[in-house]
Amino acid sequence: MRTPNEIDGPLETPVRFVFPQWSNALLPAVIVMMLVAPIYAALVLTYGLSPVTHNVGYMPTQPIPFSHKIHAGELGLDCRYCHNTVEDAAKAAIPPTQTCMTCHAQVQTQSEALKPLWESYSEGTAIRWQRVHDLPDFVYFNHSAHVERGVGCASCHGRIDQMDVVFQSESLSMGWCLECHRDPEPNLRPLDQVTNLAFDPLVDQSAEARRGLLEGLRITPSEGCSTCHR
Ligand code: HEC
Ligand code: HEC
Ligand code: HEC
Ligand code: HEC
Ligand code: HEC
Repeated sequence: MRTPNEIDGPLETPVRFVFPQWSNALLPAVIVMMLVAPIYAALVLTYGLSPVTHNVGYMPTQPIPFSHKIHAGELGLDCRYCHNTVEDAAKAAIPPTQTCMTCHAQVQTQSEALKPLWESYSEGTAIRWQRVHDLPDFVYFNHSAHVERGVGCASCHGRIDQMDVVFQSESLSMGWCLECHRDPEPNLRPLDQVTNLAFDPLVDQSAEARRGLLEGLRITPSEGCSTCHR
């Protein structure tokens, strides 16, 4: 005679095989995810994918009236002279006082506007530049991933070389990021033009040249959530 236990026994085995016992621990998490997903999707659709333009024009007052129009425009300094990590790293470095002093130890030494620079230099303290662009902490951004793939500063920052005071020219919303990730071609330029803000990718090169960049560099920006949220 077989006991009820022996009859039930073989039935349990295939069930265990499909859902191993440790998966029970995940059940609360799965339920929470199923409840949160529609709310999450609604948030993305209303805020993330709609053309909300928050912070466009944001222009904080800086401790020194440093002008990109003078330095990058009239003096023609390359962006990488000061933002020297922009091709190799996620962050674009803000130059230390020493970079300014290579010129200002001799140039404009009587300037009132440069007093905080002298103080910073003699006291060895950093100048407290105010951030202009600032994504939320849950977003991952990487400069080198763009600059090394033919996306120029101007596509995301506008004509910095014409600004006396830097302001945010694009929304930096998720919808804005995705718009380009879906169709990057109109924004691509030759790698030696990434810091030439006067170069217009749509005007100063042919459509074939843009397609050549897209295919030659095998550019396929990801739209997967984990690309920007990791
Ligand atoms: C190309 C980069 C990028 C990708 C890919 C991306 N996001 Fe975002 N996401 C952002 C940025 C940037 C923000 C911040 C926008 C802001 O400041 O309002 C954001 C914000 C959000 C927010 C907060 C709501 C909001 O708009 O502020 C949620 C939720 C979100 N993303 C979910 C997702 C999901 C889900 C996916 C995959 C379908 C995804 N994201 C893919 C860049 C991205
Ligand atoms: C002589 C050095 C120097 C050069 C050259 C220079 N910058 Fe800057 N840049 C700075 C300093 C200092 C700041 C911080 C103060 C400010 O925001 O004006 C800054 C700030 C910025 C910001 C805002 C950063 C933030 O807080 O969000 C952007 C964007 C920027 N620069 C882009 C450029 C581009 C593009 C070029 C080339 C056309 C360039 N810079 C050339 C020194 C320089
Ligand atoms: C390559 C040399 C060079 C570098 C590097 C440089 N500057 Fe200048 N800067 C100049 C020159 C030249 C002028 C004068 C331009 C003019 O009067 O048309 C000037 C002008 C200025 C002025 C205006 C002064 C006034 O009273 O009109 C300020 C402020 C200034 N620079 C700040 C900075 C800061 C801050 C840095 C570092 C982030 C910096 N500069 C880096 C060459 C430089
Ligand atoms: C694809 C868009 C894009 C391109 C191209 C781009 N930037 Fe940015 N930049 C951003 C965003 C977005 C931020 C804000 C990053 C954050 O908050 O984490 C930023 C921030 C900065 C900052 C502040 C420091 C930092 O890294 O947060 C500087 C300086 C800067 N960019 C300079 C440049 C220069 C110079 C170039 C061209 C060589 C350039 N950027 C190209 C989008 C871009
Ligand atoms: C003007 C076009 C453009 C804009 C705007 C843009 N991207 Fe991109 N992004 C690209 C291109 C092109 C690549 C390179 C794709 C490749 O290498 O195949 C890229 C790559 C990336 C990568 C690297 C992906 C990897 O696999 O390493 C990240 C992260 C990223 N973008 C985040 C962002 C975020 C966040 C924003 C908005 C704040 C943004 N991007 C806005 C064009 C853009």
